[in-house]
Amino acid sequence: MKTVKIGLLGLGNIGTGTYKALEMNRSEIEETLGTGVEIVKILERDTTRDRGIEVPLEKFTQDPDEIFTDPEIDIVIELLGGIEPATSFMLKAMENGKHVVTANKAAIAANYHKLMDTAKANDIMFRFEASVGGGIPILGTLTGPLRANKFEEVLGILNGTTNYILTMMTSEGVDYDTALKDAQAKGFAEADPTADVEGIDAANKLTILMALMFDKYVAPGDIPTTGITAITKDDIEKARANNCRIKLIAHAKKLENGEIEYAVKPMEIDESHPLAGINMEFNAVFVKGNAVGDLMFYGKGAGPLPTGSAVLGDVIDIVKSSLR
Ligand code: HSE
Repeated sequence: MKTVKIGLLGLGNIGTGTYKALEMNRSEIEETLGTGVEIVKILERDTTRDRGIEVPLEKFTQDPDEIFTDPEIDIVIELLGGIEPATSFMLKAMENGKHVVTANKAAIAANYHKLMDTAKANDIMFRFEASVGGGIPILGTLTGPLRANKFEEVLGILNGTTNYILTMMTSEGVDYDTALKDAQAKGFAEADPTADVEGIDAANKLTILMALMFDKYVAPGDIPTTGITAITKDDIEKARANNCRIKLIAHAKKLENGEIEYAVKPMEIDESHPLAGINMEFNAVFVKGNAVGDLMFYGKGAGPLPTGSAVLGDVIDIVKSSLR
């Protein structure tokens, strides 16, 4: 049996989740594909941390070029996070003919055209399902089964950390700081939670959604963005009195004149709207298509295994399409 070989950049939370998900489901994945799938090299400095997985020491490298120039490696999975060096590494992998999978919304949102163009120029597949909605298969659905639609609107709860914090503030009455610490302890928040709580992470994801849904690239810094740091218990109680819940919503809408209106901000969502019932670290994406009508996709938007599930889904797709 042929074995598809993968180079992994980064063995942090999501890298570990991806490695674990592959170990958990290897026999089913390999049986479906009719090929072996193996992570053969891992770019990671910390070789000793207990991650709850067994990684042979010889898989670790400190030299990214060992991965990019290895002719045996077919796919590079980038899970370093951050814009650089992640973007340069992805471009280098593409230029060396490797297919690339990433969960890195910040890098994609900042360098969308460069990454897409380089993938095309090198005739490789570039997949990033895990970058929006974690385990929710939203990007593949928008660009696959929903392709026949003109999209009219998207309303997304796209950040698990802030949804967790708002849920805890609403249902447990805890204050913002306690809820944030709890979210970080559970591994939902970014290393620097500013990107989560200021809405920047959700804006990155909205950039990607708008590019795919409306073929319109808006840099995340150009999306009017308000986070949740100013939300008080009082705001939550006022919303409750109006039969609403406060949610951090990434919103884009196509107007009659063809312009797209967009923003990330806390919104009062009526209790009767399906987005009002999305709690804890769960994400949801509510989409209106001109043929299909209203749809909502729901699932875990953060966390190592749900995100690892989406990363591996992309790997499987690439193997199915071009490596068997
Ligand atoms: N920090 C992000 C979140 C991780 O809380 O949703 C997933 O992108």
